[in-house]
Amino acid sequence: MSEKTKNEELDFTNLGFKYRRMPYRFRAYNKDGKWSEGSLETNERILIHEGATVLHYGQAAFEGLRAFLRADGTVGIFRPYENATRFRRSCERLLIPPVSTEMFIDALYQVTKANVDYLPPYGTGASFYLRPYIYGDGENLGVSAAPEYVFSVFVAPIASYYGSDASDGKLAAGKYLISTDYDRAAPHGTGADKIGGNYAASLLPGHLAKSSGYVDVIYLDSATHTKIEELGGANFYGITADNEFVTPASESILPSITKKSVMELAKDAGMKVTEREVFADQLGDFTETGAMGTGAVIAPIGQIDYAGRTFTYGDGIHAGEKTEYLYNTLRKIQFGELQDEKGWILDVKVN
Ligand code: PLP
Ligand code: COI
Repeated sequence: MSEKTKNEELDFTNLGFKYRRMPYRFRAYNKDGKWSEGSLETNERILIHEGATVLHYGQAAFEGLRAFLRADGTVGIFRPYENATRFRRSCERLLIPPVSTEMFIDALYQVTKANVDYLPPYGTGASFYLRPYIYGDGENLGVSAAPEYVFSVFVAPIASYYGSDASDGKLAAGKYLISTDYDRAAPHGTGADKIGGNYAASLLPGHLAKSSGYVDVIYLDSATHTKIEELGGANFYGITADNEFVTPASESILPSITKKSVMELAKDAGMKVTEREVFADQLGDFTETGAMGTGAVIAPIGQIDYAGRTFTYGDGIHAGEKTEYLYNTLRKIQFGELQDEKGWILDVKVN
């Protein structure tokens, strides 16, 4: 068991993206076709049946959200109803009985509230990462849906997944690799769902790229290997010199809630916003590129290596002006520094 962490013992300026044990997690059980009401539990370990489908056949889905301590001392969760909808779709794809939207939202609410003493203070740039997940359990051997299921949500205080957090007012850009050897998802496969198997497939290529100094892998479409799909843990965008915000249209990428939000912010800022095919050999058309996701937030991309070619954006190590603007706008909404005019934030009453 990892050490219990206390708010004051954490270095909130250096959290990274890692598991830290928090006192409470929510769990609900489905044993007879019906979900139990669920409750908060303290043990981070779970007992799993040796025949559980999650262990053998990857019957598991998850989500990722952030909860923020805002400027005025209130707590907000970013766009949780979007995650609830996507979670339901992932469950349906894997024959997992979905939990109701009400239970999903209530579970987020309960864990945020129960662990609120560990929520990173306003001004640190850090927040809670909420991790809902669901998996098949119980006696089983053949390839079929499980007889039992577990739904849980745990939290961890985090900074950003790709380590691009603004420091000294500068947002750091990273170096990424387009994989020509490995695919992440197939047409008509499960790329658009947030399920464990997609990430299992990305472990080896991700490890190889990280060992060579890259932040993460950018995947191509597996049918033609010519078009950008997305990164291992985020969606991709590029911005052209004439103010067009472009992001790949594909049936086999995860429909990112951050992307959906950033597209709106880009449009509000007067940019032309387009979802279309993005050919890897045309990456030179962009003046800025980046990654978008709950963990990533907006992570600027400074360099992309692709089949012996290198594309560099700006000075290669800092965010471009438009990326910086979009990042700052999104963060200000999340931290309550800008009015939440779009109704993206769910307030959590913690007192
Ligand atoms: N694509 C992948 C593969 C991801 O893992 C994530 C992270 O959740 C995203 C995109 C971004 O999605 P969202 O913005 O909804 O977090
Ligand atoms: C998220 O951003 O929520 C993710 O799930 C990314 C994951 C690769 C950690």
